[in-house]
Amino acid sequence: MSIFSELHDRKNTRSVKWDMLEPVFQTSDILPMWVADMDFKAPEAVNNALIKRAEHGIYGYTIIDDDVESAIINWLKHRHQWEIDQKWLTFSPGVVTSLHMAIQAFTEPNDKVLVQTPVYGPFYKVTESHERELVKNKLIYKDGYYSIDFQDFEKKLKSGVKAFILCSPHNPVGRVWKKEELEEMARLCLKYDVLIISDEIHADLVLPGNKHIPIASLSEEIAENTITMMAPSKTFNLAGLQASFIVTKNKDLRLKLNEHLGKQGFHMLNTMGNAAIEAAYKHGGDWLDELLSVINDNKNYVIDTFAKNTPELKVVNPEGTYLLWIDCSGLNMDNKELKKFMIEKAKVGLNAGIEYGEEGDQFMRMNLGCPKAMVEEGVKRIIGAVAVAREK
Ligand SMILES: Cc1ncc(COP(=O)(O)O)c(C=O)c1O
Repeated sequence: MSIFSELHDRKNTRSVKWDMLEPVFQTSDILPMWVADMDFKAPEAVNNALIKRAEHGIYGYTIIDDDVESAIINWLKHRHQWEIDQKWLTFSPGVVTSLHMAIQAFTEPNDKVLVQTPVYGPFYKVTESHERELVKNKLIYKDGYYSIDFQDFEKKLKSGVKAFILCSPHNPVGRVWKKEELEEMARLCLKYDVLIISDEIHADLVLPGNKHIPIASLSEEIAENTITMMAPSKTFNLAGLQASFIVTKNKDLRLKLNEHLGKQGFHMLNTMGNAAIEAAYKHGGDWLDELLSVINDNKNYVIDTFAKNTPELKVVNPEGTYLLWIDCSGLNMDNKELKKFMIEKAKVGLNAGIEYGEEGDQFMRMNLGCPKAMVEEGVKRIIGAVAVAREK
């Protein structure tokens, strides 16, 4: 049996996804398919590295050494054909932390920050909690596919935007931006002197037929204008280990960012996160390839099964991430009704589309980072509930 078919009991492990059902959904009698972590064990090499480290039994102050940094450099080179210099690396507990730091370091209160909506909820908070003005470049949703409204993008940049937070690949719509799209976004940001803060946490989670291109890898000039945030956390299911990194070629930007991180007291990674980064990037390639085929299979299963049974639900076919963005407008329910329906009738815990902005109205986000049997169960529950609703 594949390790990706094993069902694990994650209850009572301090798991947000499994142990927060009651406070979030007001019931624990649902199948959790929300929060973006996976129900799979991390690669064996990672678990072995952590066990070995724990067996040592001493957890004093820790350094990020050449072994860790060269594991990242090699991963980026071989997985993404992106050659970076060791000096460009900075570390942080998480990408959301890095986003907060970057916004504080590179923009001032009331500055405009551009995001492409619907988008990962914390992008709103990262901007608004520091009193920056959030400016939206709404993605175009047409024929089940999302694309960039470049006319609007340029108009917004022209209006005096200071920084653009790019989500690449995009959560929740699942786009893996094509080279031409990235080039055009970068060209316009350079033209209007807008800093690119690129959240590439989903970089490794790209489905067959697509290719992730780090925006900073497009040219020297673009690299000088970009701060890239990455992590092994989504890729290898290590979010609880709190280990991520930032790549900044531009020395001035890097110094400013480091100064800001330093001022907040960040100066190292935790011991386990450090060990996990090295093991994951050195030995996790085959595990990841198998994972991607499992996600692809899960995705195709949901798309085909909904198409056959519930035409009310239209799945946006993702190019990347393990997150499925489902257009539920065919159910003719408002947001509250839709949320209630999924919890009380279908008994599944999904993320409500509205969490990603008003453009997510009538959408739901389903997490496919789980064994096929769970996906089948979730789909069965939803199809059954829709069939009952249809009869009424
Ligand atoms: C686009 C994006 N950025 C950041 C994060 C979270 O990053 P971290 O856990 O490193 O703070 C997520 C998690 O879902 C995400 O989808």
